[in-house]
Amino acid sequence: MHALKKEKLLFAHYFTIIYLSRSTIAQYFGNKVFTFGSGCKCVDIKTKCSYQSYFSTHKTSFLVYKTHLLIFKNKLDLDRKIFSMDFKIELTEESRLNTVDFSNLVFGKVFSDHMLVADFENGKWNTPQIKPYGKFLVAPSMSALHHAQSIFEGLKVYKNENGDILFFRLEENQKRLNVSAERMCMPAVPKEIFIQGIKKLVEIDKAFIPSGDGLSLYVRPIYFATDEAIGVKASQNYRLIIFTTPTGPFYSEPLKVKIETHYSRSAEGGTGYAKAAGNYGGSFYPTKKAMEEGFQQLIWTDAKENKYVEESGAMNLMFAFDDVLVTPSLSASKLAGITRDSIITLAKSLGIKVEERNISVDEIIEKHEQGKLKEAFGVGTAAVIAPIAIIGYKGQTINLPAIADTNISRIIALELQKIRTGQTADKFGWMEKL
Ligand SMILES: Cc1ncc(COP(=O)(O)O)c(C=O)c1O
Repeated sequence: MHALKKEKLLFAHYFTIIYLSRSTIAQYFGNKVFTFGSGCKCVDIKTKCSYQSYFSTHKTSFLVYKTHLLIFKNKLDLDRKIFSMDFKIELTEESRLNTVDFSNLVFGKVFSDHMLVADFENGKWNTPQIKPYGKFLVAPSMSALHHAQSIFEGLKVYKNENGDILFFRLEENQKRLNVSAERMCMPAVPKEIFIQGIKKLVEIDKAFIPSGDGLSLYVRPIYFATDEAIGVKASQNYRLIIFTTPTGPFYSEPLKVKIETHYSRSAEGGTGYAKAAGNYGGSFYPTKKAMEEGFQQLIWTDAKENKYVEESGAMNLMFAFDDVLVTPSLSASKLAGITRDSIITLAKSLGIKVEERNISVDEIIEKHEQGKLKEAFGVGTAAVIAPIAIIGYKGQTINLPAIADTNISRIIALELQKIRTGQTADKFGWMEKL
């Protein structure tokens, strides 16, 4: 039992965990008989899941969890032998690489050569295709256009000085996509399509990954309803598309943001915790009004009382009150940002005190008046860390202190950058090499 626990810890640290359904297991392993361990209970140190049984062959170890079999083995072997998902691949005849100005990358305007398309039809996933990036036909009756049964994700891939291609916490995006899918009544996207699909796509278009400060390849998965039917109900058919765009810094200067006290992005019981397309469409009008007043972005407040700050645009929000990093606690109205989680983890590891709790607008004003409001910043994949210079609230203006190298946000941004580029040890196991 002791040896087993030790082995389990090693697995969780060094090997990729792959979830396979029982039907997939049958497909790969047929009726081979495995020896089961004796009713031991193991707890995964990352997911906190406990597993019901353990068994192993001389080469591979397995754990059974609910309806899934978890296989622990060297990742590359898994990719090659067990988990080589079939993709139909059609490569472009005319690359657009020469048309990309890598010295002047604007967010989300130029696209790599290929995209992945996977359709869920008649209750099952078809073989995913990787094909030239391009337009596709859409029927006017396509369900997603009518009722916004449509979700998306966003993640970045980095190339370091050695030319290594590095993914940052890819599995977190896969998990969140399926949290969003569940909320929007859509079938889950299998891990092998999402993760293997992104890896394959990035490998094919690796020439589009820029390297250098603040540069990366942004990966955009979109997933939407495709029934040709306008009845108000969940679609039966869906499409996943994944495409990529080489990208540079998101914001070029510290932001001027307005605390919104009338319009809401989301409410308890709504879809705020999902990356649902409609959440963003609904935010444009209030944001446009704030822009007309000279702001670049909004800080959303809670829908019930407009008293507590929630997020800023498409970013989570953080403050430094003196030397404490304070951020709104997660709730059903906020998106659980992967950058937010990474920053909290990093801050704690650097000995910075972190508080996740409700933050009222009154408290922000009070802390400012007391000289304790040192920093405010948005955090998200696209911008990573976006410092806020000015906060507007009901005609009042809060000016944040000038940014200094000693700022918590700067220290953490630097640390994160070092992990992402491989300059520092990845002790959290966030990076994965292609
Ligand atoms: C509403 C919203 N909040 C927060 C975030 C930050 O999330 P992440 O750090 O995972 O990019 C995003 C971006 O995905 C977002 O759209």
